[in-house]
Amino acid sequence: MSFLRNTWYAAAWDTEVSSGTLFQRTLLNESVLLFRDTAGQAQAISNRCPHRFAPLSMGTLAGDAVRCAYHGLQFDGSGACVHNPHGDGSIPKAAKVRKYPLVERYSLLWIWMGDAAQADPSLIPDFSCMDPEHFYVGKRYLHAKANYVLETDNIMDLSHIEFLHPGTLGGDKVKSALTSVEETADTVWSNRQTVAEIMPDFLYDAWRIPRGTLVDRWIDVRWDAPANMLLFSGAVATGRPRAEGVASPIPHLFTPETDTTTHYWFSMCFPKAMGEFGAQLAEEQVAAVNVPFTEEDLPMLENQQAMMGDTSFWDLKPVLLIGDAGAIRARRVLDRLIAAEQQSRG
Ligand code: FES
Ligand SMILES: [Fe+2]
Repeated sequence: MSFLRNTWYAAAWDTEVSSGTLFQRTLLNESVLLFRDTAGQAQAISNRCPHRFAPLSMGTLAGDAVRCAYHGLQFDGSGACVHNPHGDGSIPKAAKVRKYPLVERYSLLWIWMGDAAQADPSLIPDFSCMDPEHFYVGKRYLHAKANYVLETDNIMDLSHIEFLHPGTLGGDKVKSALTSVEETADTVWSNRQTVAEIMPDFLYDAWRIPRGTLVDRWIDVRWDAPANMLLFSGAVATGRPRAEGVASPIPHLFTPETDTTTHYWFSMCFPKAMGEFGAQLAEEQVAAVNVPFTEEDLPMLENQQAMMGDTSFWDLKPVLLIGDAGAIRARRVLDRLIAAEQQSRG
């Protein structure tokens, strides 16, 4: 499988990579080592020592460098070998590891797996709803034994919530919602609007709307390649304008670990202006949505992948339904970006 290389991928929550520790994660089939230097700056380098290919993650931090556990070569965050304990200590020319551009933003570490010269941080999609300066961010991470584009299908086609999540997120009006798809530049929007719906109690409680109120609910999903999505979900008493309702942004970010496994980060975020109540809501709500995501979506995704085996999505000739429009548009944009990138590489 080909991955898009020249793009920003989520690599970890900021809190997953703490000072003084080495954190290994496989991204796009490459083993990457994440750590913080003595200034607290997060760094990403290849995890494979160029001497005898030991994982550097088995080593230790020595100041701003990582010391390989096998024969003691040290590499810093630029990927340069900065210490050779053998012989006269001179550094062999080939003693270096790949450095990946890494940016800490919106409570995440973003990594660029392609040509470093093209790594422009302004290309990171806007997830300012997770800016830790202004928002409490309830964070969760899941690992899925499924291809990451199946995750795009899952989030872009929320008609599934009526069937897969009847007791938690769904409602009997979801499949008949008004849907629309918009595409601007390489961003795809999959929008869904229900009218006069009774929601599951969980949602009334989360949004502090009296249970049983008839509501109009919207779930608008913004997709950016490769699989970074932001749901804008909200509800208002039926017939009233959206501005009178309550809404929550719910980020979902997916990064391929391998062809058939995926890293998944999602969150609930509330403004710091709400004080401690906002912090409590962020944690409560992310814990609440974690239940259907873990117990209902994850087994479905993993079993879909098992049924597909190694056959590609299009080779299986999938049936297309009306709710698939957004997901299919996103797949096409992704395929086009990958093809263009491969062509420009020759
Ligand atoms: S394998 Fe790393 S120094 Fe030998
Ligand atoms: Fe779901």
